[in-house]
Amino acid sequence: MSEPESEPVTGSVNGSVSQPSLRAERVTVGYGTHVVLSDLSLTLPRGRFTAVIGPNGCGKSTLVRTFARTLLPRSGEVLLDGVPLGRWKPKRIAQRVALLPQSPVVPDGVTVRSLVARGRHPYHSALRQWVPGDQEAIDVSMAATGVTDLAHESLTELSGGQRQRAWIAMVLAQDTDYVLLDEPTSFLDLAHQIDVLHLCQDIRDRGRTVVAVLHDLNQAARYADHVVVMREGQVAASGMPSDVITADLVRDVFSLECEIGPDPQAGTPMVVPLARS
Ligand SMILES: Nc1ncnc2c1ncn2[C@@H]1O[C@H](COP(=O)(O)OP(=O)(O)OP(=O)(O)O)[C@@H](O)[C@H]1O
Ligand SMILES: [Mg+2]
Repeated sequence: MSEPESEPVTGSVNGSVSQPSLRAERVTVGYGTHVVLSDLSLTLPRGRFTAVIGPNGCGKSTLVRTFARTLLPRSGEVLLDGVPLGRWKPKRIAQRVALLPQSPVVPDGVTVRSLVARGRHPYHSALRQWVPGDQEAIDVSMAATGVTDLAHESLTELSGGQRQRAWIAMVLAQDTDYVLLDEPTSFLDLAHQIDVLHLCQDIRDRGRTVVAVLHDLNQAARYADHVVVMREGQVAASGMPSDVITADLVRDVFSLECEIGPDPQAGTPMVVPLARS
């Protein structure tokens, strides 16, 4: 069967038409002999802001990398619009799904603007290094992440937080339906963390699907509208933050006793950690 070429509003498998979607179907993923995700199935709810939470090493990065096909499952498959990612051209996947990795490698001597412009590569070809829409996508993404004034700065000379915002701008410029961000708030001061979380809500409100790996449960509960909790390569729970984030769950997943009260501003669950269980 030929690979999907053009923007499919709908995908087609075995003649049946499906809605735009991104779903992992019984994927097993690992490194060498180490299996990390085992027989995991998960649909990323479309048009939502999903926070992926869970302890260090539980497989969060492995999961988002699998959804972006930077890691290939050993068995099972990820379906984009119902079509296995393996049947999509890599460039077409990159027009639909963007991933900001947890530790992106900083290219030498690259300015902020040229980094953000890299987000447009999936739309270019050998003969066409510019397409209408590039300029606007780059400008809008830089403005949204507050890096316009840093456009001509070299990435290596920025603070960790400034650099993180430049990476997020690059991912936004990719202009995809699915925006996957692996720990986008790491290295940011609290004000810039909140800016990024508002930005995630903003992106969702413009109709895109946002998935962010977060460590701060209170931020996840307050800003995301869906949470996926991972434990040892499995989805331990998923759903609305107020349904999912409970003292029992925090004990089970993080081995931590806690009290949970309402966030005084948003009313969402607010975790007050006590002792390790
Ligand atoms: N490139 C790799 N090669 C070998 N093992 C890896 C690699 N990346 C991750 N792992 C292992 O896979 C498991 C899951 O790692 P992963 O990075 O997905 O966890 P995580 O939930 O994102 O953790 P963190 O919160 O620390 O970022 C860990 O045991 C880790 O050591
Ligand atoms: Mg990780």
